[in-house]
Amino acid sequence: MMRTRPLKVALLGCGVVGSEVARIMTTHADDLAARIGAPVELAGVAVRRPSKVREGIDPALITTDATALVERGDIDVVVEVIGGIEPARTLITTAFEHGASVVSANKALLAEDGPALHAAAQKYGGDLYYEAAVAGAIPLVRPLRESLAGDKVNRVLGIVNGTTNFILDRMDTSGAGYSEALDEATALGYAEADPTADVEGFDAAAKAAILAGIAFHTRVGIGEVHREGITEVTAADIASARRMGCTVKLLAICERAADGRSVTARVHPAMIPLSHPLASVREAYNAVFVEAEAAGQLMFYGPGAGGSPTASAVLGDLVAVCRNKLGETTGPGESAYTRLPVSPMGDVVTRYHISLDVADKPGVLAQVATVFAEQGVSIDTVRQQSRQDGDGEASLVVVTHRALDAALSGTVEALRKLDTVRGVASIMRVEGE
Ligand code: HSE
Repeated sequence: MMRTRPLKVALLGCGVVGSEVARIMTTHADDLAARIGAPVELAGVAVRRPSKVREGIDPALITTDATALVERGDIDVVVEVIGGIEPARTLITTAFEHGASVVSANKALLAEDGPALHAAAQKYGGDLYYEAAVAGAIPLVRPLRESLAGDKVNRVLGIVNGTTNFILDRMDTSGAGYSEALDEATALGYAEADPTADVEGFDAAAKAAILAGIAFHTRVGIGEVHREGITEVTAADIASARRMGCTVKLLAICERAADGRSVTARVHPAMIPLSHPLASVREAYNAVFVEAEAAGQLMFYGPGAGGSPTASAVLGDLVAVCRNKLGETTGPGESAYTRLPVSPMGDVVTRYHISLDVADKPGVLAQVATVFAEQGVSIDTVRQQSRQDGDGEASLVVVTHRALDAALSGTVEALRKLDTVRGVASIMRVEGE
């Protein structure tokens, strides 16, 4: 039986994602109603610039007063696609207080204040869904929260930022430097005018915090995610990776420690072998591996950004929370019962690729090898090449075996102090083997 009284939806934000959400709600209204069991009605759209023409949206629905909209009292679901911390946080909290459920695409807010938002949802009997906050259209939050709820996830590893993947892909395929590749990403609309959130890894770190929290049923704060961006990645790093049969990707890696007593979450560029499935994730696509005890290895791949893909994830959540509303129930809330501590980067076990400029004279290789031995770091491969320009220097590339990151970074610090080491040309972690 179809309920005739519609569920009322307030849309906060009508930019690239919000306008697509409104469009799909209108054009697919009959299908959405059939899937939910009641019609959904766009009851108001809060925007910053009311004079902008918004095709397909009744101008009578447009308001600049988002607070009044969420306080109306007859709104069933608030869809928040404005992003940022405030006013989004206050609006979402107010929405819960007034009996609404919330669908949000706001990774920064969820990473910073997810527990408080979940608590507000629970207190007022609402749902908080946020599939669109991580990797656009790719279903990840729901698989982790629901499909894998009976399994034990040990690792989540992936490319969760399309802008940086586009830049690194361009550097890899064309030999371009970082600035040139960033300019191309900006010209094509992949990078924003201020690309900081993407290129410095903030966006990926927020997604890593959200994924780690859901995967390991614990709380991972954004400040607990180790973060390095791609601004220091050079064409020489990419060329060095190529020589090793690798490519460079910005990875988000969330792991449960081998003893199961802690977790780590990190975002940094890393070399991965060309044979690894993540190496073939090109342009602005995202892909995430989830390793679970019973399921084994799962891979999720697709468009991680953009209006339509992100709107797809928002609409999926909208259908789910509307169904819950009709059934007078709620879906899964926060699951943080394991209370696992988050270990620092120094406790992570990884491998380093270190490229050094050294004096080309007797004993230097032994001196360098001694530093590794003193730090308890085992060397996997060494490649040395004398410079053709006869300046008495050689390039030395060392790839280590797996070791604690603290020991590896200690090794680099000690190498920098050697007189015979003229410079550390590049350091990059190696993953995916
Ligand atoms: N700016 C992000 C990206 C999309 O490039 O993947 C939104 O998180």
